[in-house]
Amino acid sequence: MTRQEAMQKASELLGKMTTEEKVAQMIQVPYTIVGREEALHWASLGAGSFLHVLGDNARELQQTALKTRLGIPVIFGIDAIHGHGLNPHATIFPSQLTAACSWEPEILREMGEVTAREVATDGLHWTFSPVLCLGRDTRWGRVDETFGEDPMLAGELGAAIVKGYQGENLADDEHILACAKHYLGYGEAVGARDACDTEVTERKIREVFLPPFAKVVEAGCATIMTAYGSIDGLPLTINRRIMHDILRDELGFNGFVVTDWDNARSLVTRQHVKETIEDAAVSAALAGNDMIMTSLEFYSAMLNALASGQADISVVDKAVLHILTIKYEMGLFDQPEKKGRKDCIGCREHQDAALRAARASITLLKNDGMLPLGPSVKTVAVIGPNADDIQAQYGDWTYFSHPNASKHLTPERPYVTLREGLAALGIKKNVRILYAKGCAQLNDPSDDLDAAVEIARQADAIIYAVGDMIDQIGESKDRANLALSGRQDELFHRLSALSKPICTVLIASKPLCIEPEAAGSNAVICAFNGGMFGGQAIAEALFGDLNPAGHLPISFPRHSGQVPVYYNYLPGWHNGKYCDLPETPLFAFGEGLSYTSFRLSDLTVDMVGRTASVAIENTGNYAGSTVIQLYQRDVVSSILTPVKRLIHFSRVTIEPGQTQTVRFELSDADFALVNTRCEHVVEPGEFQILAGLSSKDEDLLTISVRID
Ligand code: NOJ
Repeated sequence: MTRQEAMQKASELLGKMTTEEKVAQMIQVPYTIVGREEALHWASLGAGSFLHVLGDNARELQQTALKTRLGIPVIFGIDAIHGHGLNPHATIFPSQLTAACSWEPEILREMGEVTAREVATDGLHWTFSPVLCLGRDTRWGRVDETFGEDPMLAGELGAAIVKGYQGENLADDEHILACAKHYLGYGEAVGARDACDTEVTERKIREVFLPPFAKVVEAGCATIMTAYGSIDGLPLTINRRIMHDILRDELGFNGFVVTDWDNARSLVTRQHVKETIEDAAVSAALAGNDMIMTSLEFYSAMLNALASGQADISVVDKAVLHILTIKYEMGLFDQPEKKGRKDCIGCREHQDAALRAARASITLLKNDGMLPLGPSVKTVAVIGPNADDIQAQYGDWTYFSHPNASKHLTPERPYVTLREGLAALGIKKNVRILYAKGCAQLNDPSDDLDAAVEIARQADAIIYAVGDMIDQIGESKDRANLALSGRQDELFHRLSALSKPICTVLIASKPLCIEPEAAGSNAVICAFNGGMFGGQAIAEALFGDLNPAGHLPISFPRHSGQVPVYYNYLPGWHNGKYCDLPETPLFAFGEGLSYTSFRLSDLTVDMVGRTASVAIENTGNYAGSTVIQLYQRDVVSSILTPVKRLIHFSRVTIEPGQTQTVRFELSDADFALVNTRCEHVVEPGEFQILAGLSSKDEDLLTISVRID
């Protein structure tokens, strides 16, 4: 059904609805909180949506909704964030941040497509993904959910996963609604304190935080979720300028908006900007929130407000029209339950996609020649808290971390930890694999550093897997200290004192401060949260069966006190130096090595034909992939502009001795800045175009161009 037809049908239906039925459509009920009985009651009142309910429980609610006077189908939402992870049988993909290391939109599209198919097979319609907040302040607990620090990369990868979720036709059986969140500026709260105020101006919003949302709206993203927090003191929930004027009038968004968890009630209870729930309900709806997640008092509050004349029915009508239009567009009135694909949840084909994503995300950050492990290595010691911990490997948003689940669940096979991946390859390669945990992520009485050192002493090479765990990740789990927790640094010092080749592997939700490990290791691999086959992909990279090609979508701070550190900062007087720390990050945005070597040459820019091109040669001995990054620097501008800004990228695969020429189409947007009047303008003058395999100055070829 076209959008036009869907709107027509929706408005006809709206004409038949009572006030109570309309307001009920705006309600989204949290199944895990209210339980079955109350959920059924809400379904009989005609609630528009439920979240966090699967399988037969969802079917029962749908049947109840279909038996109401108008039989309006319910729409079911779920947090399928990196795979349909709340279902214990589902395919678990790398986290968004991890998959972003691939810089490969196709990997994200496939991740979206597979996830959608599994969610649809469970009879559900809608995932609260992707996250388009930026991971600039890495103390924030939800950096793992982002695509990293760059607006352009986040927009491209976000649009790709949205296309994967939604496909060409929302009504088909294997696609679901995407939900871009959290609109807007949530990741930038002061001090990275989850959901606190974000102190940015509208100009900054337009320069940094809005572009990824603009990109996914352009890609047809059907729903948007309101952020919890506030910008410059005004909660997003009641910020009509951002939630309505900019989103709908400027970006052209025409789907529906859902609040985040309890946003409406929080206006009274947490943010203290409304005295009564009636005031909160009316303002949230007026600002442009169509569906209200979990604040169930909204229902009676809005009815009271309508009865007393505090609210006009037109505000409810608009919201319900947006919701019903999507329900028609999805074909829910003809077929309320998606069929999905029989037996596809966790199937072999889907697992292969998760493995592809894990492989593409492995990022090699340092290598003095230790890797790949050569034939002289007969015994490998794999040590560390995250070497054999599937919960830590998965990270947030799987059945382990869901509020309704328990982290004591027995994990579902198949999955492969690093220890298991090494063991499997070790058998094939006749390499003995020894294992000791050594210490936990947090101090634990069972820590046994001596045993780990003993094991390491017997090996020719040490693989040290460090990182964080679920208790240190997620909402309200912001960290003031990003150094490795527990006794992980201490164990590293003891292992490195053995003077054996040592490779540190970071299995974590985000960049942690691993300066001692980076300095003292022969090799460093960043694997973040690689999903069910994360361990296998790392093991393949260690043995050279996989040539790493990931690049960082986020900078690594040297120290917590250096945060935030991101590549596209504005120039300052003193180069951003601290007197006790270099201004550079430990590892920079865009960085990522390979077992082969690449050489870039012949950067040319044709301002008439609007293209840039650069040649890349594989000068080493292995076939390999890498990511060519194109940056722009506005040499003189009326307002400070970032020292460099990513404008294009391309992941390429090249055989040894071969050269490829990569071309990028340039557009006005590539040269535009946001001026003090909040307009996107291109100012005449000199620009530099920079091309390379990382954002570091020393890795970039530069050419100057003029715009007159
Ligand atoms: C709160 C989180 O902020 C949001 O990302 C999530 O989708 C909702 N809860 C629903 O679980």
